Amino acid sequence: MRTPLCIANWKMHGTLADARPLATAVRDGLRRVKDIEVVLCPPFTALAAVSEIVTGSGIGLGAQNCHPEAFGPHTGEIAPPMLSELGCRYVIVGHSERRREMGETDELINRKVRAVLADGMTAVLCVGETAEERRQGLTFTTVEGQLRAGLTDVAPDAVARVVLAYEPVWAIGTGVNATPSQAGEVHGYLRGLLSELISKDAAATVRILYGGSVKAENAESLAAEPEIDGALVGGASLNAQGFVNLVKKTARGGVAVRGA
Ligand code: PGA
Repeated sequence: MRTPLCIANWKMHGTLADARPLATAVRDGLRRVKDIEVVLCPPFTALAAVSEIVTGSGIGLGAQNCHPEAFGPHTGEIAPPMLSELGCRYVIVGHSERRREMGETDELINRKVRAVLADGMTAVLCVGETAEERRQGLTFTTVEGQLRAGLTDVAPDAVARVVLAYEPVWAIGTGVNATPSQAGEVHGYLRGLLSELISKDAAATVRILYGGSVKAENAESLAAEPEIDGALVGGASLNAQGFVNLVKKTARGGVAVRGA
């Protein structure tokens, strides 16, 4: 069965003065929480400090982005081996904020996915439609294009190390989450595509997270939707107590649907 997963995406929040106490409080608050995996994705500059704090706790470490090459003349960029060296096991790729603000294309995102996998880490591939695309009935078309492009030339056995995140752009940072059934419908579609593109086994094992205004109040009902395997959390991951509650509720929703 797929173990539920909660990923905290701190985005561009967290000087060391903020990041250290936040990571420490999350680690301590989750000591006795079972049936769920948790990953923290602080800014690059806090990775080393957060790595020290979470090492040995069961909480994983992830980065929010990387360059598609392992080294080279790319001023200001960070390569996958620099991240794995710090203890990162996950890298978020294709977040809609980067697609929009940095002009990241599906082709670039695919190169990043392959680079992360080649380095032995898990790629968290984000897909999701804009409000306008949803209005025009293009939700499935959009996410299908993003998924197909993102997984191009990824070896079938490496797909086991991919996590998908369905993040409708209209739900990110807006306070308006997709309902469990809206998200479940898209997750089911993505799982069907995985089965077609890769294999039935891959479709059954790859975790598909929902992201977009997840908070402690809606986490349990989202996680109780059978197609939702956890959450990618932005704003609500910046408050330790709130995030700990959110993780507990996600675990509870997951147990409700999968059994303990
Ligand atoms: P949000 O962001 O939880 O603040 O909506 C989610 C994300 O962008 O990953």
